[in-house]
Amino acid sequence: RIAYVNGRYVRHADAAVHIEDRGFVFADAVYEVCQVQRGFIVDLTRHLDRLDRSLSEIRIRPPMPRAALSGIMRQVLRRNHVVNGMVYLQVTRGVAKRDHVFPSPDVRASLVVTAKSLNPAVNAAKYATGITAITVEDNRWGRVDIKTVGLLPNVLARQQAKEAGAQEAIFVDGEGNVTEGGATNLWIVDKAGNLVTRPADHGILSGITRRTLLDVAERLGLPVTERRFSVAEMLEAREIFVTGATTICLPVVSVDGVTIANGHPGMTAQKIREAFFAVAE
Ligand code: PDD
Repeated sequence: RIAYVNGRYVRHADAAVHIEDRGFVFADAVYEVCQVQRGFIVDLTRHLDRLDRSLSEIRIRPPMPRAALSGIMRQVLRRNHVVNGMVYLQVTRGVAKRDHVFPSPDVRASLVVTAKSLNPAVNAAKYATGITAITVEDNRWGRVDIKTVGLLPNVLARQQAKEAGAQEAIFVDGEGNVTEGGATNLWIVDKAGNLVTRPADHGILSGITRRTLLDVAERLGLPVTERRFSVAEMLEAREIFVTGATTICLPVVSVDGVTIANGHPGMTAQKIREAFFAVAE
């Protein structure tokens, strides 16, 4: 495998950043994960728009123009022979002596790009059976709309899910409302048949898959409401599913041991997933 690190294509096994890189020391860094389907990067423009926004929110200057960046992403995909899989990109504030305040403006941002193939059969199996989830307290900071690599709460939540025999953790805020999954956005089909997801405020990551699914739902003529909903409402929903770049749209069939609807993946999730690739660019 080959990775891109600060201007060089290197063997993945040898790819490294400095121990004083602020991404390593402070999680002072942002990232993107894009799905690759039949050689194309799905929703690339939206991912690069979100990257620009994340960088600007934490005041890191973009490491290079957008065309150069997407050129590197394609090059990493090509050098790794990835046709179906994902490409990962991370930008940090660069290497500087440890000090919380920003380093001098001439410290250059670090850029790392990796890629890997994913076996579509693995997701297919999950689509067929659905996944199970647990709820956890959302104890993250107030700006999870910024896609930073400071993911410790997500790491602990997903580990807790795994130890409970589940595949996703669902974050619940102080009001008892669902925010999102450990690495996904969450949707329900409510009792009235409406597709419901939390508004993209500072309390969730505004997922690219979420954004595209809103377009998909509109095309399919499905009624959609962006509003908050409680854990109790979620448990009584007709369907629950989670969305993210690597899984697209995955049904959740049980939460905290409670079976959702009849315990099988719902029709809405399936319809949406099938329509997804017609809309995504
Ligand atoms: N995670 N919410 C969180 C907390 C996420 O980490 C992600 C993505 C999403 C979905 O966003 P998108 O549709 O843009 O992938 C929502 C990526 C895949 C990850 O960390 O691996």
